[in-house]
Amino acid sequence: CADRIDAIKSTLRVVPDFPKPGILFLDITTLLLDPKAFKDTIDLFVERYKQKNISVVAEPEQRINLFAYKEKLCASASTNGGSIEARGFMFGPAIALAIGAKFVPLRKPKKLPGEVISEKYVLEYGTDCLEMHVGAVEPGERALVVDDLVATGGTLCAAMNLLERAGAVVVECACVIEVPDLKGRERLRLQGKPLYVLVESQFEAGS
Ligand code: PRP
Ligand code: MG
Repeated sequence: CADRIDAIKSTLRVVPDFPKPGILFLDITTLLLDPKAFKDTIDLFVERYKQKNISVVAEPEQRINLFAYKEKLCASASTNGGSIEARGFMFGPAIALAIGAKFVPLRKPKKLPGEVISEKYVLEYGTDCLEMHVGAVEPGERALVVDDLVATGGTLCAAMNLLERAGAVVVECACVIEVPDLKGRERLRLQGKPLYVLVESQFEAGS
């Protein structure tokens, strides 16, 4: 298990001053480019949650830069130089399928077509809002919240608030990595919410 986690950590990339100066960006898209590390990440979460009677896996959406994928996958790729933004759910659907749970996307505003409930939250660099379809979760369902990383914990708190407002019981929040300095773990602990982080070690810029 420790070997697999070390291998996963080695695929992660730290980008200083992104998306703006002073922000140390922990990038998990390089993990997704390594099929073994990606599979091990899913497997480790599945091993942890498969016996926990979870019927809902929820994940806030991620922005994925497809141009960056193409650059890495095909060094000779020639494009028009633009980047293509895509919305993705990187870990939650695979975990949900493997443990026999439904998957509930938590999306940025005005993306879901049905009736929604919304929750605003403060980010490390700005404010945002998550929305969930009304009826996606039944009262009393046991839910797992998944995200790529926890920084201030604002996103996970908003996700949990949405699920709890719908009557779900949040069993745990699961992230691949954390930014320890931003105290998301402490914030969740103060709210009585359990957090599991797969790769807990500190990162240094440029690694
Ligand atoms: C990033 C990351 C987490 C969140 C963690 O998402 O994917 O969801 O920040 O930060 P927090 O613990 O301070 O809330 P972000 O909203 O920046 O955008 P993206 O996932 O759409 O790229
Ligand atoms: Mg996010």
